[in-house]
Amino acid sequence: MVAKTPQPPTVLTTISATVLETVLETVLVVDFGAQYAQLIARRVREAQVYSEIVPHRITAAEVQARNPIGIILSGGPASVHVAGAPVLDPQIYELGIPILGICYGCQLIAQQLGGTVALGGRGEYGRTKLSRLAAARSTLLPQKVDDTIDVWMSHFDAVSVLPSGFTATAATADAPMAVIENTSRKIWGVQYHPEVAHTEFGQAVLENFLYRCIGAKPTWTMSSIVEDQVAAVRALVGSERVICGLSGGVDSAVAAALVHKAIGKQLTCVYVDTGLMRKNESAQVVETFQRNMGIELIHVDAGARFFERLQGITEPEAKRKAIGELFVRIFEENTGGLTDAKFLVQGTLYPDVIESGGVDGTASVIKSHHNVGGLPKDMTLKLCEPLRTLFKDEVRKIGSELGLPDEIVWRQPFPGPGLGVRIIGEVTPDKVAILQEADAIVREEILAAGLEREIWQAFAVLADIRSVGVMGDERTYGRPIIIRAVTSDDAMTADWARLPYDLLEKMSSRIINEVAGINRVAYDVTSKPPGTIEWE
Ligand code: XMP
Repeated sequence: MVAKTPQPPTVLTTISATVLETVLETVLVVDFGAQYAQLIARRVREAQVYSEIVPHRITAAEVQARNPIGIILSGGPASVHVAGAPVLDPQIYELGIPILGICYGCQLIAQQLGGTVALGGRGEYGRTKLSRLAAARSTLLPQKVDDTIDVWMSHFDAVSVLPSGFTATAATADAPMAVIENTSRKIWGVQYHPEVAHTEFGQAVLENFLYRCIGAKPTWTMSSIVEDQVAAVRALVGSERVICGLSGGVDSAVAAALVHKAIGKQLTCVYVDTGLMRKNESAQVVETFQRNMGIELIHVDAGARFFERLQGITEPEAKRKAIGELFVRIFEENTGGLTDAKFLVQGTLYPDVIESGGVDGTASVIKSHHNVGGLPKDMTLKLCEPLRTLFKDEVRKIGSELGLPDEIVWRQPFPGPGLGVRIIGEVTPDKVAILQEADAIVREEILAAGLEREIWQAFAVLADIRSVGVMGDERTYGRPIIIRAVTSDDAMTADWARLPYDLLEKMSSRIINEVAGINRVAYDVTSKPPGTIEWE
């Protein structure tokens, strides 16, 4: 997630990042660049086999030390012919561990094992027909894969001479050796991308590699993850006291629920209610964590202090800074009594670890969650990061497995400064109350239209202007609400959502009829870039 604010200072004095590792049958996905590796790792996990991403510089000795059951070489943006293009330690091919190369990975196998990769012919990009070669029997393409299928291609070069011992089992117009196999050495390669949704039978081919070629078992299930992490948390924290800052967001909620399952009363959660949360959000956090799950929760009702601090502030960055600083101060005040705590729970996810270089083994990864805040200066806490190996979709599934309600598990991203950055101009309790009502209507209608999981974020913004309208026979002079709804994969870029007109009309008339002081509704049709998702 991208934050616009300067991060609150990290006030932890000593932190040692702790990975909660478990010993599982693992497939290593070797990352040759771009975004391909993450998608492959997710697809492998969808097949219920645990996967980890490793850098392409990994050595044969390091691979051996990890004892994987299989290796997948990802695609990448380079050409094998470019000087300095990434390669695999050739000794890895000699380990006898089954390997599947995808796109660049396939070309690398051909080149490193003595075949030839022809310099770009015409290349193939996007949907391409792949046909089985009649004379060859494939062990990689399962029986159910039709003789000709649509696959997704993105390549310029192609294998032109097979390394010895390999057979080509399928071809496309520009890649006569689009699937290559050496069953006795247990090495396979596909020029296309089985991991992308547009490729027909893509998942089936990956599953065939995992189950039939490797002999993997589908053991990576949500209940096994919970069991393993519960055991790992217990082993890590022993009988020590643990703190978790709840932000109202999915990651900290699931991390807290998981740690609570492991150590019960040793966990104390702290929830700073800034008064800038969405309608009923704070009540829901308290209801879920304290009443339903029996988690010890310090609920700090600090709305009045935030409103006082925000008086007269209109400039967006000044507002964000004021909210961030006060948040840290209040967090400190309320964890002051927990000086015996030894661990801090963080909802760090696997993509955070990958993006901050964690898989390279070079960076120690500490992503201070700006919406959780900081901690007292004299605290020396170790991190407990039970979600560190998980992707977001897995975190959501674990949340459901742990009994968290859908409203928390499927919650939209929400900025740390809350509604404060959705009220243009000065933030006051009255304006927050108005915005909470309008925002609740937007989200209710998105939910009722069944669009909740398609839309990245949908919310209301309160503008600092007034316009003239007419209601009944009366002239009105009220504020407008701006509806903002976007689709996105990662919030780095976003497109304004093409919501049906009927839905927009329903939102508009409900907001004007039900929210006092609002007499006009506008829809924001700006993508990111050039706009940002939030208005401030
Ligand atoms: P922008 O407005 O920069 O937002 O396009 C990108 C994503 O980040 C969220 N956001 C924040 N999240 N603290 C957060 O935890 C923040 O200060 C913050 N500011 C923006 C925003 O909701 C969107 O998902």
